[in-house]
This record gives sequence, structure tokens and C-alpha cells, in this order.
Amino acid sequence: MRLDKYLAKSSGLSRKEVKRLLHADEVSVNGEPERNPARHIKEGDEVSLNDRPMERPEPRYLMMNKPDGVVCANDDPTHPTVLALIELPRAEEMTIAGRLDIDATGLVLITDDGKWAHRATSPRHKTHKVYLVTTADPIPADAVDKFAKGIKLDSERFPTKPAELTLLSDNEARVVIHEGRYHQVKRMFAALGNRVVELHRESVGEIVLDDDLFPGEYRHLTEDEINSL
Ligand code: URA
Repeated sequence: MRLDKYLAKSSGLSRKEVKRLLHADEVSVNGEPERNPARHIKEGDEVSLNDRPMERPEPRYLMMNKPDGVVCANDDPTHPTVLALIELPRAEEMTIAGRLDIDATGLVLITDDGKWAHRATSPRHKTHKVYLVTTADPIPADAVDKFAKGIKLDSERFPTKPAELTLLSDNEARVVIHEGRYHQVKRMFAALGNRVVELHRESVGEIVLDDDLFPGEYRHLTEDEINSL
């Protein structure tokens, strides 16, 4: 990690403030004064500010219950973003590990750990995701078989991987998918001539949305949840 980033993360100061401190010779690395903001800080290096050792910044891992109408993006000209709902320093720099559409609700994972975010989203890891779906028209019983066999999506070469569909009522189902194509669940139903009117993500891998979280609320993940991906 770059020295300026390390300092900003471990002190909570802004990048501008960190730059000033570097110029003012208030920073040292392994006991030697250091002014270069781009200096690479590796495992074992000791960074000090005014001779006070700075703790290594720990990545943060959050789950949020995303509300309807909020965008999974780092910034957006017209809509509020999930990151803007997070009241933590430098939340705007965090990564959204697997986005939901603006009108979808439920579990969104947000972190500073790029590698972890990659594990959560990379097709190679085949992390399963569970969605609760409400459709405009009744879901016929044969949709279960079609989801299990794979569905050819508009303008895609390969059908979807086997997915599990459980009918809950005429217009409601639980869907488990093992990949993450663009608007995948909506497009799977669209391919069967139906339309998703509500989409709620319940879980990603072993991480289940906490019932206690109201829309827009978030909490830190537990060690077990972090290690499960
Ligand atoms: N599938 C969709 O269609 N939308 C989402 O937000 C997630 C999965």
C-alpha cells in the first residue's frame, strides 16, 4: 500500500492533510524520515507520525440491507448511493462486492478488501446467491425444470448454469443462482415471458442478510462471515 493511503486509512485524516504532514517532515518509516507519498509500505514496515507508531489499517467488511431506489455505484448524478449511506471515514473509497439493480433490495456486501470482493463476485468461485422474487404473472410449475436445465438469455451464447427455483406462491419464488450475469434473474424470467416486479437478495454464499437490519442499515461482518468466502 502507498504511504499516503496507509496514513489516511490508519489515522482517519484526509489525503490533503496527510500530504501536508509528509511535507512538514512529520512522517517516518522504520525510523527514517520519509516524504514520498508513493513509497510502498510492506508487511513489517513501521510507519510513525510525529514519532507515534501508526497501526496497520485493517480492511472493513460490511453487509447492508439495500433499500429500493438506491444505486450500487461509487457515485451517481441523480440517485443516492449505498456508499453515501455508510457513516464511516472514507466510505466512498470502499468496493461494492456484487451489485444489485436500483429497484432490487436486500443483501449487499461492501469492503475495503479488493481481493475478498473479487472472491465474492468472480465466476470462478461460483458463490451462490439466493433471491426472493415476485413476478407480474403466475410462475408455471415447469419453470422449475427450465431453471434447472439452464435458460438461453437474450444475446448470450451460453445458457445459464443450473439454478434452483422453489415456488412459494403463484407469483413468488426463491431462486438460487451460481453465477452473476447482468440482470440475471430478471432476464431469466423475461426469457420465460414473465416480469420480475420485486427482487430481494437474501444471501451470498454463507452470508445471510441479518433480519435486524432495516433498509439502509448496515453492520460489520463477523470473522466467520468474512472467512466463509
Ligand atoms: N439479478 C437481477 O436481475 N438483478 C439484480 O440486481 C441481481 C440479480
